[in-house]
Amino acid sequence: MDQFERLAQLPLRDDLRGQHPYGAPQLDVPILLNVNENTFGVPQDARDAILAAVAGELNHLNRYPDREFTTLRQELASYLGHGLDEGNIWAGNGSNEVLQQLLQAFGGPGRTVMGFPPTYSMYPLLASGTGTTYLAGVRAGDYGLSAESAAAQVREQAPSLVILCSPNNPTGTALGLDVVEAVYEAGEASQTMVIVDEAYAEFSHTGTDSALSVLEGRPRLVVSRTMSKAFAMAGARLGYLAAAPEVTDALRLVRLPYHLSAITQATAVAALRNSDSLLANVEAIKVQRDRIVDGLIELGLTPAPSDSNFVFFGGLEDPSAVWEALLARGVLIRDVGIPGHLRVTAGTEAETTAFLDGMRAILAG
Ligand SMILES: Cc1ncc(COP(=O)(O)O)c(C=O)c1O
Repeated sequence: MDQFERLAQLPLRDDLRGQHPYGAPQLDVPILLNVNENTFGVPQDARDAILAAVAGELNHLNRYPDREFTTLRQELASYLGHGLDEGNIWAGNGSNEVLQQLLQAFGGPGRTVMGFPPTYSMYPLLASGTGTTYLAGVRAGDYGLSAESAAAQVREQAPSLVILCSPNNPTGTALGLDVVEAVYEAGEASQTMVIVDEAYAEFSHTGTDSALSVLEGRPRLVVSRTMSKAFAMAGARLGYLAAAPEVTDALRLVRLPYHLSAITQATAVAALRNSDSLLANVEAIKVQRDRIVDGLIELGLTPAPSDSNFVFFGGLEDPSAVWEALLARGVLIRDVGIPGHLRVTAGTEAETTAFLDGMRAILAG
């Protein structure tokens, strides 16, 4: 009996029937460049600090954690700057949970959320899980999104929420703040919540402005971030957002009690207090990211401009065959299902060399 036959025996919600669970392959391969992790790992001084903080928590692990995670919110506010304080901050077990809570509070049955594919593939799944209708917006042929086009689409569809992913996954390119501002204005009549998913913001080219700089005076604007990428903490599960304090009050209505464990809070606080050390490899990753772009151009392929720690590239006749051939060489990258394209995470210098050498060999023959 396969998974669908087994599920058919249960009184599952009609809208979940036939759906596949989200998840990239988790394969045991030497070089993992498929889910945009920071492959440098956690430096020793940060490890020591996290271990000491977690050990301290064991003294009161019999008690529920601080449900307001106040210290963590203070540390996150101070990391983000922009005049934010703990009243502006909310966090969850990964930014996926934060996005889910936003949909629980502002979406739901009879409401809509708009995204602009190709974009992060969890958005439609979070929509379906919360009973929110997903509206697929349209990008230009080169996957760009102009302020005029995005605003016109928001005005026409009047969604309850819109999610702008910047830098966008899977294309890697950041949006100008003119897009964020135009979408916010276009959503005035429909009181649309505008979420800017900045999971990869730390990898942006110098001079790329964060939507944090336009938060003030925009109570329907939310900027979502994560410690999974630049901070090398994907395993710790800590995502967060910055917004007006009333947005965080709305999320208190839908969060589960004590949703952030004492271990998670202690880990994230210790990591934030060692952020210089944890973020020390971001520049090295950006160098490898740019090296991948240059290397792929040399191979005659067409990488998209990247402000993230990954590169989306086209020009492949048979992406699945290239994906398979790289895997056979011990390099796992991501087939995002877009014809002619693949996506690769920028890793260490050695990992990037293995990827580029593999591509060169595969395309040669
Ligand atoms: C654009 C984007 N947003 C959010 C996430 C979720 O990250 P996490 O739940 O680990 O914070 C990801 C993960 O790959 C992502 O690519």
